Amino acid sequence: MGLPGVIFALALTTVATALDNGLMRTPPMGWLAWERYRCDIDCDNDPKNCISEVLFRDMADRLAEDGWRELGYDYINIDDCWSSRKRDEQGRLQPDPKRFPGGIPKLARYVHDRGLKLGIYGDLGTHTCMGYPGTTLDKIDTDAQTFADWGIDMLKLDGCYSNATEQEKGYPLMSKALNATGRPIGYSCSWPAYQGGLPPKVNYTQLGSICNLWRNYGDIQDSWDSVLNIVDWFSNHQDILQPVAGPGRWNDPDMLLIGDFGLSVDQSRSQMALWAIMAAPLFMSNDLRTLNSEARTILQNKGVIAINQDKMGVQGRRILKEKYGIEVYWRPLSNAASALVFFSRRTDMPYRYTTSLGKLNYTAASYQVYDVFSEKLMPGLNDTTDFTISINPSGVVMWYIIPPALLGQSQMGGGEYPNFRRKYRVSQRGGVGLPFSL
Ligand SMILES: *[C@@H]1O[C@H](CO)[C@@H](O)[C@H](O)[C@H]1NC(C)=O
Ligand SMILES: *[C@@H]1O[C@H](CO)[C@@H](O)[C@H](O)[C@H]1NC(C)=O
Ligand SMILES: *[C@@H]1O[C@H](CO)[C@@H](O)[C@H](O)[C@H]1NC(C)=O
Ligand SMILES: *[C@@H]1O[C@H](CO)[C@@H](O)[C@H](O)[C@H]1NC(C)=O
Ligand SMILES: *[C@@H]1O[C@H](CO)[C@@H](O)[C@H](O)[C@H]1NC(C)=O
Repeated sequence: MGLPGVIFALALTTVATALDNGLMRTPPMGWLAWERYRCDIDCDNDPKNCISEVLFRDMADRLAEDGWRELGYDYINIDDCWSSRKRDEQGRLQPDPKRFPGGIPKLARYVHDRGLKLGIYGDLGTHTCMGYPGTTLDKIDTDAQTFADWGIDMLKLDGCYSNATEQEKGYPLMSKALNATGRPIGYSCSWPAYQGGLPPKVNYTQLGSICNLWRNYGDIQDSWDSVLNIVDWFSNHQDILQPVAGPGRWNDPDMLLIGDFGLSVDQSRSQMALWAIMAAPLFMSNDLRTLNSEARTILQNKGVIAINQDKMGVQGRRILKEKYGIEVYWRPLSNAASALVFFSRRTDMPYRYTTSLGKLNYTAASYQVYDVFSEKLMPGLNDTTDFTISINPSGVVMWYIIPPALLGQSQMGGGEYPNFRRKYRVSQRGGVGLPFSL
């Protein structure tokens, strides 16, 4: 079977309808507090890093001023431990008064004034995972309305301290309640993670119609082991998970660790590349105030972001697993373009991997290849021509493959990536355009 056939088959499987709130037609991008800041509420001793309005204002400033927002990173999301231990007299959630003295509406205005959106965290159950007030079934309407009144743009609804019956009722009810507020609020559901992530317990058709994204699997931790564990789980179950993703409805393998402590530069590129192939939400959880330039360069790479944000919204797949620790991932993109990731799980030395596009089932043609991390456009590549690439241990080589039909045209995908439209370039070598600037 040739490549167009594979694209057709993949595209066809994405037929289920998405939650009808018009949001997140491409995977959401932004920043989420949890992985890096957890439940640090010790503002007396750790004022810069504790969960407080200061932290979210700081990060909003960075997103707005350091080029993140223009690249698509526009959500700034609060996680657990923001609230007071008690609801107010009217039974509404309220923020911790000491750590959020200005209140959430003021923080939302601050965020909106900077062209960003504010996300918040709730938990379907008696308590949040860290023991703060949860949203029991009778509180769903109240909490949805409170969030809407505050100007919230996204809700992550966790599932600690509820049972399967309550979750089956509560997750759809919250979807209805958010809709009833009239405010478009992106809805992230942790539900499948509490059901083991797989059918028959998880009904992905239903999830896609009530949630914009969902956490299928356990929390990411700041280590390469954790990334590998997540990548393996998603790849091993890709026949189930890949078809259920699409515009407005995304699998969420959890936050990006890039800029934290656990990943090397190569591993950081690998996480970014594999998350882009998986059409994953890109929520950083790091300190944007002190980010080093290597992490910034990876997170702000326009090629990998364009691949992640491809409008067609088809999730990619692992297509090859060599016995000697090399894996190949592929994602079809708009306008018959595609992305390839060559990933090494080896732990010895850079591995020289030889293959051809034909062996990866690309149809007979001559392609042009853009190397995403070295940011270089390479000479034309015939499908039958063997090439050899060097892949670092726990690293990747990522390619954006320009389809043959577009060779010789002065641009491709007009209007596909508004942010980059202005910057389309025509290369000297045959006039090939990329949806991002070189
Ligand atoms: C609520 O749902 C209706 C019907 O599915 C949809 O047309 C509308 O845009 C939704 N509104 C919000 C705010 O999500
Ligand atoms: C779930 O919790 C509710 C109380 O909210 C209880 O009535 C019900 O029996 C529980 N269901 C299961 C399956 O444990
Ligand atoms: C899954 O949910 C959909 C939509 O809610 C429903 O039509 C379908 O019957 C469900 N599938 C199973 C196996 O329960
Ligand atoms: C290429 O196609 C053949 C025949 O359908 C299949 O057996 C093989 O696994 C495919 N290879 C890749 C890398 O997709
Ligand atoms: C690829 O190379 C082969 C062998 O050199 C040649 O016969 C074929 O025409 C080339 N195909 C394209 C699309 O350039």
